[in-house]
Order: sequence, then C-alpha cells, then structure tokens
Amino acid sequence: MNELDALVASARDDFSQAATPAELENAKARFLGKAGRITELMKGMAALSVEEKKSRGAAINLAKQAVEAALAERRQALAEAELQQQLRAEALDVTLPGRARGQGGLHPVSLTMERLEAIFGSMGFEIAQGPEIETDWFNFTALNTPEDHPARSMHDTFYVEGGSAKAPNLLRTHTSPVQVRHALQHVQQHRARLDAGEPMPEIRVIAPGRTYRVDSDATHSPMFHQCEGLWIGENVSFKDLKFLFTEFCRTFFEREDLVLRFRPSFFPFTEPSAEIDIQFQSGPLAGRWLEVAGSGQVHPAVVRNMGLDPEKHIGFAFGMGLDRFTMLRYGVNDLRLFFDGDVRFLSQFR
Ligand code: PHE
Repeated sequence: MNELDALVASARDDFSQAATPAELENAKARFLGKAGRITELMKGMAALSVEEKKSRGAAINLAKQAVEAALAERRQALAEAELQQQLRAEALDVTLPGRARGQGGLHPVSLTMERLEAIFGSMGFEIAQGPEIETDWFNFTALNTPEDHPARSMHDTFYVEGGSAKAPNLLRTHTSPVQVRHALQHVQQHRARLDAGEPMPEIRVIAPGRTYRVDSDATHSPMFHQCEGLWIGENVSFKDLKFLFTEFCRTFFEREDLVLRFRPSFFPFTEPSAEIDIQFQSGPLAGRWLEVAGSGQVHPAVVRNMGLDPEKHIGFAFGMGLDRFTMLRYGVNDLRLFFDGDVRFLSQFR
C-alpha cells in the first residue's frame, strides 16, 4: 500500500472512530485542517519540479477527494444514527393499554336527591336547605313538640355544644325545621303584601338533606337522609297532598300501578297526620306495604310560628326517608352498604 492509500485508510479509520459530530470535526482537522496531513502534503510539493508537481498533485488530490468522501459518509452516518436514537427515544407503543382515568359517579342517595329535585321541581317546588346543627327551637319547639316528648331524650338525639343549658343545640333529627326556616323567610319576603292584606304567593318547597338520630342497625343509621316537603296557601288540602305524593311516587319508581295508603298517625307538628305506605304490584316486593314518609296538615301552632295566620293559611307537609327510597328503587337490602364506602358496591350505580 503506498503512502497516500495508507493516509486515506487511516483517515477512514479515524472518522469511523469518531462517535459524535464534534469528534468527527476534530478528526477532519487532523487531515484537512490548516496543519492537517493532506495540507502538509500539498505544502511539501513546493520543492518539486513542474512534471513531478503534476503527477504528485493529481495523486494527492485523489487522496484528498477520498478523505472528503469518507468524511461526508461518516457525517451522514452519524446524523442518521442521531435521528434513529431520537426516534427510539420518542417511540410510542400504540399497542400499550390506555391509562384510563377512573370514572367516578354519584352516590346512589345523591342520585335519589337529584331525581327528587327534578320531579318536584317540575311540579313547581323550590329547593331549600337548612343547617345540620340546629337549635332546639327550630328542631322541636317551633314544631309544636312539647318539652317532655320522647324525641327530645338523650337516647334519641345528638346534643352538641352551643345554645342554652335548657335548650342545647343538636344535630337535627329531621328536615322539618327547614319548614319553619323557609316559611319565615318567605313571609319576610312578602311582608308588604301580607300587611296590605293581599294574597301571599304560595309556599311550595322541598328540603333534602342529612339528619341524625341515635340509632343503628340494618335499617337505621345514626346519619341518614330525609326530604321535607311543604305546601302552604289559602286553599291547599289533604287531597292535594294525596295527589302530589302519589304522582311523585309513581314518577320516581316509574310504576303507574303503584298503590299508596295514608295511614292515620301522630306527629306533634301536623293535625291530622298520616304515615304514607306504598305497595308495588309486581317485582320482589309486590303486595307488601312499605312505609316511606310521614305527613299531615300543618298544625295551626306551627303555622303561627311561621308568622302566618292559621285562620287564613293552610297546607301540608311531608317528610320522607331518602335512604329508604333509594333502597326500594335499587333493591338494596342493607342500609349500611350506603355508608361503608365500598367501591365494589358504589360503582354499580355509575
Ligand atoms: N319529621 C317527621 C319524621 O322525621 C316526618 C314528617 C314530616 C311528618 C312532615 C309530618 C310532616 O318522622
């Protein structure tokens, strides 16, 4: 191998060992740079004769072209390698399973509340809310519940700090206090009309929410859900309650043949009072009477506590158990399932 071929071979070797474009530039300088070996050879020709210059020059030029070609080839290879590397780094395996976000859903009791608000909403009812920590007055006294009533006992009610020693605050035992809270607001809002002896717009409201009692077994939880309903006007009767509640239940359960029974009962804040039972005509619960709500004509003493004249204003109220409604709608037989927070149970309602 002559000296020039050896030079080209060593350049090729050098270039192929360059692992990065920077290393390749350094290698290039060693051959083609100002003090590079090819450049040195060119300079060395100065002493040669014209003839010699011609042949030697041509040979060196060939060698130079070969080195340049080797350089270009290596450049290309390095660029290619870099591109491949980049593509590998950004590789996307389209066959990998997706990372789906866990899909949440509403709690079954929340679904019932939404359903209820939609149905009563379509019947012209407003939706009200009241505090879960209630005063003795709103929870009991305003609702005509006497001091010696069993509901007031420590065994039945969670008393909390606040209020007076004789009338401590408590976790509301039912949603009925919202009846009075909402009515007082309504009366205040229409004070001017009432004072002028003009008719007041009717009170038509539901109040769903959490309620608390000292009670715990398969069908009772210390925290449970109720929805209160109140309709007060100048000419609202039990007949309206029966119609309204029947329509509501049939819509809620999507059963036209659902039968309702109003069973005489007692509540201090209604007179007369009735428990409302429902009966399915088909399905696993067919033929059984199921208690779903308490109801009655609002007691005159309560109407007075609402700031209204019981001689003029009359109406009815009802209070239903939302957990019960939810259990019946979905066929759940243990109330505690609603409050265990087990996703295997809850995800069935998504
Ligand atoms: N508050 C009663 C209860 O919790 C239900 C009820 C509400 C009864 C309104 C009559 C009128 O049992």
